[in-house]
Amino acid sequence: MRKTLIVSYLARGERSNTKKILDAFSSCVKGSSVEDLDLCKNVPDFFLPERLMVYYERNYGGQKIDPKRESVIKKMDEMAAQFKSADIVVIAAPMNNFSFPAPLKAYFDSVMQKGVTWTIGANGYEGLMKGKKALVITSSGGVYEGESAGYEHFSSLARAEFGLMGFETVEIVSAAGLNMFPEKAAALVTEASEKVKTIAEAWYSLTI
Ligand SMILES: Cc1cc2nc3c(=O)[nH]c(=O)nc-3n(C[C@H](O)[C@H](O)[C@H](O)COP(=O)(O)O)c2cc1C
Repeated sequence: MRKTLIVSYLARGERSNTKKILDAFSSCVKGSSVEDLDLCKNVPDFFLPERLMVYYERNYGGQKIDPKRESVIKKMDEMAAQFKSADIVVIAAPMNNFSFPAPLKAYFDSVMQKGVTWTIGANGYEGLMKGKKALVITSSGGVYEGESAGYEHFSSLARAEFGLMGFETVEIVSAAGLNMFPEKAAALVTEASEKVKTIAEAWYSLTI
């Protein structure tokens, strides 16, 4: 059975509009096991100096690290192993300051490990997550089109990161403009919810 991993940072809890869209997706998941990782409860580690040294020595240098010292990177390794074991990865988080909320950025830093989810082969960068699918569900107060498109670093970052890891399909569904157009917010959330349901119906129609 396929495995779906849902990684969320929804700090407004039940009031979150991003959560409403995620709930619409979740209601259509079938024929898959589901694991939830709540980044508000399980906050990823950062690459502070000792952790970064272990990562460099082990993942780039191929060195065997003393287990006691290596334990500093255990949480990153657990998150990377869980990520790697999923066939479908769903990210749900709002835009914060034009990009990912910090815990989500730290999550990608945890799972984008050289030799685990990507590597450098004879032909350069190579993703190790080939054949897998990702869905990114987000919402934002503003709309990033035309002249303001260059300020949008959430979707572009998600595409770059999943792309480097070799994901076969990356879908991004955003309810944009929720604060700019409060009178339209409910309709924008409904529209995004319909889009994620259509994606779920396509992805989960085949039982493998
Ligand atoms: C700390 C913070 C930073 C934000 N930064 C942006 C931003 O850069 N651009 C934007 O359009 N909206 C920004 N917003 C608005 C949220 O993205 C928007 O309200 C979103 O729909 C909230 O999602 P939620 O209902 O799931 O919490 C920010 C909100 C917060 C709390």
